[in-house]
Amino acid sequence: MQAVGSGQEDDGLAALFAAARSVRERAHAPYSRFRVGAALRDEVGAIHAGCNVENAAYPVGTCAEAGAIAAMIAAGGRRVTAILVCGDGAALVTPCGACRQRIREFAAPDTPIYAAGPEGVLRSFTLAELLPESFGPETLGE
Ligand code: THU
Repeated sequence: MQAVGSGQEDDGLAALFAAARSVRERAHAPYSRFRVGAALRDEVGAIHAGCNVENAAYPVGTCAEAGAIAAMIAAGGRRVTAILVCGDGAALVTPCGACRQRIREFAAPDTPIYAAGPEGVLRSFTLAELLPESFGPETLGE
C-alpha cells in the first residue's frame, strides 16, 4: 500500500508519526516479530507513546495503543484527541478490537485514528468508523 503522506504536510501529524515510528523501534516483539508503535495527543497537546510488549505467556502481551494510553493517564492526560498507529510493513495496521474499545474510553466519535507504516500515514479513520454504535462511559451514566 502506498503511503499517502509522511505527515510532513501537517506539523501536528508529523510529530505524532515521528513519535510512533520511533517508539516502535523499542517494541518487545520476539514472538510475532511484528513491531508496533502508537502515539496519541492529549487534551493539552502533549504526545504520549507506547509500543507492543509481548510475553512468553502469549495472552499477557500488550498492544502499542494500550501502552500509549497508559502513558497518557500516568502523565495526567485524560482525553485522546488523535492517535496514530505505526505498523511493521506495507500492511495496513489498524487498532485491534480491544484497543478500539480502549481508545473509546477517552476519545470522541470524530477523533482521528491514523494507520501508518514506516514510510508514512496510509489511511485515516474516525473512531466511529472503526467502532460504530459503541459502548462507553455514558452508557453507564458516567
Ligand atoms: N499489535 C499492536 O500492538 N497494535 C495493533 O494495533 C495490532 C497488533 C501487536 C500485538 C502483538 O504484539 C503483535 O502486534 C502481533 O499481533
